[in-house]
Amino acid sequence: MSSDALIIWLWQNAKRISWWTGWLLLSLVIMGYFGSALWTQQSQGVFIPGVLSAGHHQFADKCQVCHQAFTRDSQAACVGCHASGLEHDTHSAAKLSTASNNTALDVSRCVSCHTEHKPEITQKMGVTRSLDFCVGCHQKTLETRPNHQNLAADSCTQCHNYHDNRALTPRFLNAHHHDPKLSAEPRLIQRNFSDYYRQQIKFPLKIFSVIEQDSPSFVHLSSSLASEWEKSRHAQTGVNCKACHSNSTASWIEKPDYKVCQDCHQAEKDSYLKGKHGVAAAYELPASSVIGGAHLPMQMGAQHRKLNCNSCHPAHRFETTHAAIDGCLNCHADTHSLEYKQSTHYKLWVEEQTSKGAAGIGVSCASCHLPRLQTPERVVVEHSPSTNLHPNHKMLETVCLKCHGLEFSLDALSNQELIKHNFNAAPKVPWKGWALLPP
Ligand code: HEC
Ligand code: HEC
Ligand code: HEC
Ligand code: HEC
Ligand code: HEC
Ligand code: HEC
Ligand code: HEC
Ligand code: HEC
Ligand code: HEC
Ligand code: HEC
Ligand code: HEC
Repeated sequence: MSSDALIIWLWQNAKRISWWTGWLLLSLVIMGYFGSALWTQQSQGVFIPGVLSAGHHQFADKCQVCHQAFTRDSQAACVGCHASGLEHDTHSAAKLSTASNNTALDVSRCVSCHTEHKPEITQKMGVTRSLDFCVGCHQKTLETRPNHQNLAADSCTQCHNYHDNRALTPRFLNAHHHDPKLSAEPRLIQRNFSDYYRQQIKFPLKIFSVIEQDSPSFVHLSSSLASEWEKSRHAQTGVNCKACHSNSTASWIEKPDYKVCQDCHQAEKDSYLKGKHGVAAAYELPASSVIGGAHLPMQMGAQHRKLNCNSCHPAHRFETTHAAIDGCLNCHADTHSLEYKQSTHYKLWVEEQTSKGAAGIGVSCASCHLPRLQTPERVVVEHSPSTNLHPNHKMLETVCLKCHGLEFSLDALSNQELIKHNFNAAPKVPWKGWALLPP
């Protein structure tokens, strides 16, 4: 074809050529958009086949949290994050493997009962199966227990849990049915990190004053910062600026995050990273998915805040009084949270703080949601608010039973209205299960 002929051909086909070029460009743009999503984790959400369950909504932009490269199988990921929360599993795969399984369910796989991307079938606690499946294995229970004969097949989880039945075994229920409303000494155990730390370091503690602070000269040290640090437990137990503001690679970190705390507060850091407050930091999820994307009602101004250790423990005071109630209320704004200050529990807490009441009698937000747990080494403050939240019977063991009897506690925890108004009255309706026990 001569060059003249080519020009004539181009001229005659101009419309078609421009159409094809346009189409090609458009395709490139679309491919670029989806292709880049594969590389920039920020927008992986464009591939999502359906929204995630409420427990996992923060992960919407980070698919590999469950889908490791090139695999659809998520079992290892589920177990990785949840194994420690399911330590007391009545129906763990290990327990069931030897037992009879008369259902078609593969009970060793989490996706048999929980799945993702299917909001149309997802119920409370991420369950995606109709709740009558218990009967498949428990037919005998129903036949041999007269008190179970008229119960509906899908009613079992009204009184039992699938995974965690610690406080609900017949033995425990019978033994504690008639315990008094309040125990003789209703108290929470005292924290003892201070003693533990002193034993660990084995050298005399130094108490620092402002003149001994070790920040580099370019750091602006305001008088309020200096006095907050000097008054803090940190300065009083030899923790100077650089313990938090430097590491092996940086001589001064401007804004230290949770990583600087872990050398001294490993247990707090580990549990913090497991719950709804810290899991975003653990998996480097976009900070916007935490408060901005919250499903729970939050205070108007909270959208711009970040979650970190110092969202509750203000730097450089790092104390726990503010952290236990007012810190929470800087963010949380649901009815339950807002009504807490009208409760008897709060009155008791104020009495404890003002030394009018004995140590340990108060019940703060943290007493229920970040409970003090006795470990072999010391008392540790559990820093995941998710661990004992659902089903709320988990709170019996770690919290209520330290002060209340089982009957009073179960009745209270079964009453949604009472929870909504943060336990502002005694429960009036008994837990359904009592009717099945001998009086
Ligand atoms: C909390 C864990 C979790 C996260 C996060 C997650 N998925 Fe999934 N995904 C699952 C589970 C569970 C299944 C069901 C797999 C099965 O049945 O074996 C699934 C299935 C799928 C499927 C197959 C759909 C089908 O109908 O079979 C696709 C595609 C998918 N996910 C894409 C994504 C994308 C894209 C993202 C990120 C935007 C994502 N997933 C984030 C847990 C997750
Ligand atoms: C990156 C860690 C992580 C992975 C992976 C993960 N989860 Fe979760 N899951 C969480 C967190 C955090 C929550 C919210 C806190 C909570 O309720 O325990 C949650 C919530 C849940 C809930 C709801 C609990 C409730 O209290 O409402 C279920 C059920 C659940 N996950 C099951 C699974 C299953 C099944 C998989 C695998 C497909 C999985 N998770 C994968 C961290 C994870
Ligand atoms: C045979 C069904 C079934 C299987 C299999 C199953 N679950 Fe569950 N799961 C449930 C039911 C039902 C609930 C509702 C709460 C309850 O009754 O304890 C639940 C609740 C949960 C909760 C929130 C309550 C709690 O006790 O923490 C988590 C987290 C959870 N499941 C994770 C998992 C993980 C992880 C796996 C896999 C290792 C798994 N589940 C396997 C049925 C199942
Ligand atoms: C795959 C079979 C299977 C399914 C499905 C099943 N169970 Fe079980 N369940 C068992 C076996 C086996 C035991 C006995 C375990 C043992 O002896 O330690 C058991 C034990 C129990 C116990 C006694 C726990 C204790 O610690 O005393 C309760 C309560 C219970 N199941 C309730 C339920 C409920 C509620 C469901 C449905 C949400 C359910 N089960 C579904 C097999 C099953
Ligand atoms: C109204 C509350 C209630 C409902 C609903 C209920 N249970 Fe029970 N269940 C109890 C109580 C209370 C006990 C302990 C007293 C007893 O031994 O009967 C019990 C005992 C059991 C036990 C024996 C546990 C053990 O360790 O010996 C099993 C298994 C059980 N229930 C399974 C079921 C199944 C399956 C369903 C659903 C069809 C169901 N329950 C529905 C209250 C209930
Ligand atoms: C226990 C750990 C810890 C110690 C000890 C500590 N800091 Fe900080 N510092 C922090 C944290 C956490 C932040 C807040 C980071 C952020 O805002 O995200 C911070 C912020 C700062 C900031 C910038 C923000 C502001 O408030 O203006 C300066 C400056 C600072 N620290 C100086 C010091 C000096 C000087 C000392 C010693 C007198 C000191 N810090 C001791 C943890 C510590
Ligand atoms: C070099 C070790 C060290 C580092 C790093 C450190 N701390 Fe501490 N922390 C301590 C010691 C020691 C105490 C005081 C123990 C006592 O009560 O005598 C303490 C106490 C605390 C307390 C309790 C204060 C009270 O009033 O009971 C909080 C909260 C705290 N630290 C938070 C943090 C946070 C958040 C970080 C990271 C930003 C951090 N710490 C970094 C050693 C450290
Ligand atoms: C900086 C803001 C902030 C502070 C401070 C804060 N929270 Fe939260 N909290 C959140 C966000 C964001 C979530 C996740 C909400 C969502 O995803 O819907 C959350 C979740 C929770 C949950 C639900 C956990 C779950 O698994 O569903 C509880 C309970 C909770 N917080 C209690 C507390 C308590 C108690 C305090 C004080 C000791 C506190 N929070 C302090 C922002 C905050
Ligand atoms: C949601 C709010 C909140 C967040 C976020 C938070 N804490 Fe705490 N922390 C508390 C409360 C409240 C207490 C005191 C509880 C009590 O007195 O029972 C506490 C106690 C502590 C203590 C004292 C423990 C003891 O045994 O004396 C340390 C140390 C601590 N936190 C470190 C941290 C570190 C490190 C982080 C970040 C990884 C962090 N906290 C994040 C609320 C929080
Ligand atoms: C006496 C114990 C107790 C006290 C005190 C308490 N809570 Fe709760 N909180 C609960 C129980 C129980 C639930 C409901 C759990 C369930 O059934 O889902 C709950 C639920 C919540 C939830 C909603 C979680 C969700 O997924 O719906 C948030 C947020 C919360 N509490 C924050 C707070 C804050 C903030 C304070 C203090 C201002 C506080 N709570 C005081 C026991 C308590
Ligand atoms: C540190 C001890 C302590 C803990 C822990 C505790 N409480 Fe209380 N609670 C009390 C005391 C003391 C009262 C006041 C009793 C009275 O005046 O008769 C009370 C009162 C109540 C009331 C009645 C309030 C009123 O105004 O009449 C309810 C409901 C209640 N608690 C539920 C719970 C639940 C549910 C839990 C666990 C999530 C719990 N409490 C944890 C000590 C505690």
